[in-house]
Amino acid sequence: MTDSITIALSKGRILEETLPLLAEAGIELIDDIKKSRKLVFPTSDPNVRVLILRATDVPTYVQYGGADLGVTGKDVLMEHGGEGLYEPLDLNIARCRLMTAGPVGETPPTGRIRVATKFVNMARRYYAAQGRQADFIKLYGAMELAPILGLADEIVDIVDTGNTLKANGLEARELIDHISTRLVVNRASMKMKHQQINHIIEKMAAAVDRRR
Ligand code: ATP
Ligand code: PRP
Repeated sequence: MTDSITIALSKGRILEETLPLLAEAGIELIDDIKKSRKLVFPTSDPNVRVLILRATDVPTYVQYGGADLGVTGKDVLMEHGGEGLYEPLDLNIARCRLMTAGPVGETPPTGRIRVATKFVNMARRYYAAQGRQADFIKLYGAMELAPILGLADEIVDIVDTGNTLKANGLEARELIDHISTRLVVNRASMKMKHQQINHIIEKMAAAVDRRR
């Protein structure tokens, strides 16, 4: 019997690099997603449909079985916690680093520190592991403004080229983790739809290998 498979993809910067990997697994979108307002898309495989979601919602949809598979950043997965998910494949795209950063030339305060970030869970774990007392301010974007405007002493954010930090008078301080995009699988789906899901994982893994 062939089960239907639902794959949750992150819209935004990951999407364009994800689609060719899926295509190499025999899953191609039929509609032009850029022109459509739809959120659920049929694919060239009649048993596979694709959801286009905010990156931060992908682990939640996969955790609760709204999708069998998902594609999202390791940063998003670590912040979510990863309950109910397997993470079988590193897609090796959107590689970047999660770092602390602060104003150029300033040393961070020795006592309690104020940290602005959208990654509050990860930041809390990191500062606790360092034995540093910290208060966290949750932001949803433009973290770089927080130290400039006196909201925070440091930020925890994604760094790739470092251009965004530099353009805002900040510099990277400590590396928290290396980040890339991952394929995740709902734990129950992995058991119930093992054959189909394994086939997709193997095909995508081969596509990733071909790019190395
Ligand atoms: P949301 O849609 O919730 O605002 P977002 O803005 O973080 O999420 P994107 O900017 O599309 O979403 O980023 C998606 C993923 O790409 C991130 O989760 C991260 O793993 C990675 N990423 C973010 N910024 C960069 C960057 N500058 N270079 C490389 N990869 C990045
Ligand atoms: C990400 C991240 C940083 C920037 C880092 O933002 O939040 O601001 O990229 O990249 P860089 O080191 O190459 O400058 P993004 O461009 O995704 O914008 P967003 O935060 O508004 O999503």
